[in-house]
Amino acid sequence: MKKGLFITFEGGDGSGKTTQVKLLKEYIAGKGIEVVTVREPGGVPVSEKIREIILDSKNTEMDNITEMLLYAASRAQLVSQVIIPALDSGKCVICDRFVDSSYVYQGIARGMGMDMVKAINDIATRKLVPDITFFMDVEPMTALKRRLGISEPDRLEREDISFHDKVYRGYVMIADMYPERIKRINGLLPPEEVFLQIKRHVDDLICRYKD
Ligand code: TYD
Repeated sequence: MKKGLFITFEGGDGSGKTTQVKLLKEYIAGKGIEVVTVREPGGVPVSEKIREIILDSKNTEMDNITEMLLYAASRAQLVSQVIIPALDSGKCVICDRFVDSSYVYQGIARGMGMDMVKAINDIATRKLVPDITFFMDVEPMTALKRRLGISEPDRLEREDISFHDKVYRGYVMIADMYPERIKRINGLLPPEEVFLQIKRHVDDLICRYKD
């Protein structure tokens, strides 16, 4: 039986997720709640091996369905080995990416469709849904400039941008579909101000959770 809080972070590359995961972990641990943080794809040895296959740039021939199943396989292991046991024992789990990444990257940006992603991931997650999800809202061009530290990206980076635009629009779409769960966080502000937005939601959630 799930007793702990399950919090996930989502957003494009360069949206500042990692910093916020760290800040939130410290904040929740400071309240005396045990916190486990994990990242996807990966998080446990089996899933890290799957991550290597997925992200290896030599695997240029990887089929979209293969890719979707590998993300789901990595997730299934992480859910059963870490997330469910931690939640059952009352810990808070913070996950850097979860099923919403598959909805947006595989379902929307790669065009596999939401229904297929849902069917596969319902099996992988045992239908576990986060209590709250933070979508770090930074437009792709801004995120790219941030990452590269330059003002104008080159041709290849611009081509890449059209994929990241689809990802971004996908996140906006699912945030609109599930406003109760997915909170849109303005990621353009300085990290400490971004964290204030997150903290407000988490304080609310912890209060409701205790009742
Ligand atoms: P990673 O280096 O961990 O990037 P980030 O710091 O942005 O999380 O790489 C993860 C990549 O995998 C990222 O581009 C998003 C993608 N991804 C999917 O396409 N589907 C998924 O289900 C997950 C979890 C990640």
